[in-house]
Amino acid sequence: MDQFSAAKSGTPILRVRSLSHSFNQGGSESEVLTDVSLDVNSGEMVAVVGPSGSGKSTLLLLIAGIEQLQRGTVSVAGIDIATLTDEQVHDYRRQRIGLIFQNFNLLGTLTSLENVALPLELGGMPRKLAAMAAKEALSLVEIDADACHRFPDQLSGGQQQRVAIARSIVGERQLILADEPTGALDVATGREIIGILRERVSSGAAAVIVTHDPQVAASCDRVVNLLDGKLLAGIPL
Ligand SMILES: Nc1ncnc2c1ncn2[C@@H]1O[C@H](COP(=O)(O)OP(=O)(O)OP(=O)(O)O)[C@@H](O)[C@H]1O
Ligand SMILES: [Mg+2]
Repeated sequence: MDQFSAAKSGTPILRVRSLSHSFNQGGSESEVLTDVSLDVNSGEMVAVVGPSGSGKSTLLLLIAGIEQLQRGTVSVAGIDIATLTDEQVHDYRRQRIGLIFQNFNLLGTLTSLENVALPLELGGMPRKLAAMAAKEALSLVEIDADACHRFPDQLSGGQQQRVAIARSIVGERQLILADEPTGALDVATGREIIGILRERVSSGAAAVIVTHDPQVAASCDRVVNLLDGKLLAGIPL
C-alpha cells in the first residue's frame, strides 16, 4: 500500500485551500485565482464553469501539480502535494490523476494505443498488460482497432478527444480532471463520455469537469463558478 491508498476514509479526495495564483502578463503581475477553496468527495462529479480567461484551466493544472503552487494548498487523498518531491509529483500524476487537457496533449510520435498505455507502462505495468488495458479503455470511448494504430495527426478532433479521455480513465485514477472534455464532440457522444466518467466516479473516483456546456454542468452533482478569479459555492455548507 502506498501513501495515497493509505489515506484515511472520510477525507475528501480533493481538498483545495486558499489557492491564489498570479501570472506575469506584459511585465506586470496579474492575479488569476484569488483565495480559491474547493472540496470534492469520492463519488462526486463537480462542474467548474466561468467565462473564458477566468482561470479554470489554471486551477486544473495547479491541482495536477503541473503549474507550480504559489499560495494555498492542494491535498489529494489527504496528501499535501507541496510536500512531494519532483519524482513523487510525477508518480502522483501518473497513478492518481486522470487529466484531460483542453488541447488533448497527445504525444504526436505515439499511436492512440501507445498514448493510452504509456502512463501504465511508466507506472511499471508490463507492456502486454498495459496494451490490453489501453485497448479496453479505447473501446469504451469507441476508438476502433484501426484508429488505435493511428497517430494523433491522423485522427479527427473528436477522435483525439476520445483518446485523451481513454488515457484519463485507464488504470485506477482517483481524481479525473477534465478540461472541456466534450468540446470537440457532438451532443450524443458528449453525453456518452460524461456517462463513462460518471461510471468511474460511481466506483469511488472523483471528477472536476471544466465546461462551457450547460447540459454537461447540469449532469454533474454540483456546479461551481469561477468569476474574476474567485470561486463561488466551492465548499458545500
Ligand atoms: N502560462 C501563462 N502565462 C501567463 N498568463 C497565463 C498563463 N496561463 C494562463 N494565463 C492567463 O491566465 C488567465 C486564465 O487562463 P486560463 O487558461 O486558466 O483560463 P480559462 O478559464 O481556462 O479560459 P478558457 O475558458 O478560454 O479556456 C488568462 O488571462 C490567461 O491569459
Ligand atoms: Mg481553459
